[in-house]
Amino acid sequence: MTAAIAHRQLTAESAGEIESVRIFSAFTITATFWLLLTTAVGLLLSFKFTYPDLGAYQMLSFGRLRAIHTNGTFYGWASVALTGLAFYVAARSSGVQLQQRRLAWAALWCYNIAAVAGTITLDLGISNGSQEYREWVWPVAFIFLLAVVLSGIVVVATVMARAGHDIYISNWYTIGAFIFTTILGITAAIPVYQFGLGQVAVQGFYMHNAVGMWFTFLALGMTYYALPKLLNRPIYSYALGVLGFWTNLVFYPIIGAHHYEFSPLPWWFQTLAIVFSVGMLVPVWAGSGNFFLTMKGRWAIIRRSYALPFFFVGILYYFVGSTQGTLEAFRSLQAIWHLTNFTVGHSHLTMYGFITFVTWGGIYGLLPMATGKRPNVLLVGLHFWLAFLGVTIYVIVLSVAGTIQGLTWANGDPFIASVEAAAPFWSARAVSGTMMLLAHVIFAINVWKMTAGPVEPEPVR
Ligand code: HEM
Ligand code: HEM
Repeated sequence: MTAAIAHRQLTAESAGEIESVRIFSAFTITATFWLLLTTAVGLLLSFKFTYPDLGAYQMLSFGRLRAIHTNGTFYGWASVALTGLAFYVAARSSGVQLQQRRLAWAALWCYNIAAVAGTITLDLGISNGSQEYREWVWPVAFIFLLAVVLSGIVVVATVMARAGHDIYISNWYTIGAFIFTTILGITAAIPVYQFGLGQVAVQGFYMHNAVGMWFTFLALGMTYYALPKLLNRPIYSYALGVLGFWTNLVFYPIIGAHHYEFSPLPWWFQTLAIVFSVGMLVPVWAGSGNFFLTMKGRWAIIRRSYALPFFFVGILYYFVGSTQGTLEAFRSLQAIWHLTNFTVGHSHLTMYGFITFVTWGGIYGLLPMATGKRPNVLLVGLHFWLAFLGVTIYVIVLSVAGTIQGLTWANGDPFIASVEAAAPFWSARAVSGTMMLLAHVIFAINVWKMTAGPVEPEPVR
């Protein structure tokens, strides 16, 4: 009798295990689809700078495609991939199976329905106006928010069922991300303040916290699990992780106004955003320092690993991009760089160099552990170098172009002078963008190998 119950429990457990792996794989596969589609759109946008008449149709116009690129990379690629990873990390770090798996599937559907509907409506010219990163109309945004809430329930339920007493630091960040983003989504939807300067303040709050409290928290949370696991040693300092968590929470939500310096927003409010942007050095240096100190002395393992070089670049660019952001917030530098290509460079240094690289590291590191299927080593190397060189060139050329643009504007030169000066850099960006898209195609092949490919007998790292 007892043996029969134990057998039934074991079968249920392994069925749950198989379903959890399927969920992780499905999140990664659909996220990869969105990465491919929306960065192909990004590449087309890059070529439009060099050949302005390319694809001169309404549905391929710059304005429509730009919003498809930004919303698609944010909500189709990074959000879906990082949620899949958050589920895996919550279950593993809590020592239990993923709970509420039906809700996890429902969340995956909601994410993808929102991304499909958002992409189609934007291409038809139906949008929420020029509110950057929230151009999706409200019914679409609502479906996305539902996905966030459902995913949050899955993670909280899994952590509540944990085997031990303590909640591992990864889950502090992840649960924080789901709770804060729900608040953020609701704030962005309430129409009461959304006119005049109120709208500007809400837009700054939304834009910065989408990157700060959503992507950054999910990426840091996953890194706190994957890095020690892959290096086979504990995190350098748990206390630094806790310090980073609370200081992120104090400083991040207030800095949105640094997007609108010299605007009619109250001067004191802008100054507060600049002061808190300097405060952001505490969590950024605590977090990246903690990760680098965990890696210290393990360079041979890092070089040999599929995943760790991606983490190394991701953490390095987190440190560089965020420190750059602090400098960018000073009024003297905003006066030159605001509205120029420099900001686009910063966006890709952080959203690509940090978020996307860390996400790739998580997928290469953890997905083979779940499925027992490995990527092709040569292809991983090609992926890494094309993406790393691609984004590095992208950021350097746009930073130079942006500085030249800002200086010519400050000089009072005719606008066309800044266009002529930036033109060669835009061609270089199209070349680096081509390298990045090639890297994404290779990544997609590897995702196929890690999910549908044959099971490898060798242990994976
Ligand atoms: C934590 C330290 C950071 C600070 C102080 C900071 C500062 C800034 C500033 C001042 C701008 C406005 C630039 C302008 O409009 O001229 C900006 C833009 C931006 N930042 Fe950061 N940044 C930080 C980290 C990050 C991170 C980690 C990400 C991504 C995960 C990120 C993503 C972006 C994006 C996408 C924009 C463009 C917004 C737009 O379209 O106007 N930043 N940042
Ligand atoms: C093949 C790779 C990519 C290429 C060629 C590319 C290209 C572009 C282009 C041409 C723009 C418009 C810039 C402008 O209006 O001046 C842009 C904007 C943007 N892209 Fe990408 N992109 C790529 C990948 C990504 C990824 C993976 C992400 C995020 C995960 C991303 C996030 C953004 C953001 C946030 C902006 C708005 C920048 C701002 O307003 O400051 N891109 N991209």
